[in-house]
Amino acid sequence: MAFDGNAFVDEMKADLISSKRGLKNATWVEKVSRGEATKEDLVGWARQHYWGVTYHTRRFLSVWVGRIPYEMTNDVIDNISEEVLGTEQKKLFGGEGKSHLDWLFHFTRALGAPDEAITSAIPNADAVLSESLLFNYAHQRPWYEMIFGALMAIEEQIPEAYTKVVKGFEEHYSDILKPDDYKFHTVHIAVDEDHGGGMGEMAEKYLDTEEKRRSAKASYFAGAESARRCWDAFESVSW
Ligand SMILES: [Fe+2]
Repeated sequence: MAFDGNAFVDEMKADLISSKRGLKNATWVEKVSRGEATKEDLVGWARQHYWGVTYHTRRFLSVWVGRIPYEMTNDVIDNISEEVLGTEQKKLFGGEGKSHLDWLFHFTRALGAPDEAITSAIPNADAVLSESLLFNYAHQRPWYEMIFGALMAIEEQIPEAYTKVVKGFEEHYSDILKPDDYKFHTVHIAVDEDHGGGMGEMAEKYLDTEEKRRSAKASYFAGAESARRCWDAFESVSW
């Protein structure tokens, strides 16, 4: 029987949803949607995102781009260019684009936190594990694992999780946060929506053995769980 890539990815996504370990169920997301997250919770989440992913994104994607099939390189370079230079934002919204790192600090400054609350923090185990897994995909694992373990397991979950968060900001935090303050989130809703499609086709094209399908599946659940643990370890920030 021919391998059905769409059925393969749909089954993995359904398993993640029913496990309730998806990013939309992360503790800070739930807290924001109920208006219960404190400023410290929000800055703590940003610290996790910084050390677990955002500080390192340009590096691990740049390593990975040297290992992927040539036909995929344009999309990944586009992704790096948006992350670092905001090129997609300029197209979508006009004006100056900012790096995603800049938008993250824009958010935490609006919450009253000095940048050092993040940059001088010692990354906790969950942040280090998230960073390490992403660099492992980039340097060490079969190249396609980054597709399933990061693009599909993490990026593809972002628009839904952040849509829930933005709704929470609008409903419960309008006295502290203006729309420009959470542009980190709205920009990701807009730019990550583009990267979601085509996973089924990619699975069919590149996962041509049972062994590759097993490793893609392992990377998907590891990537999603790693991001979830990193997001959930937002405690212990103060300034
Ligand atoms: Fe980003």
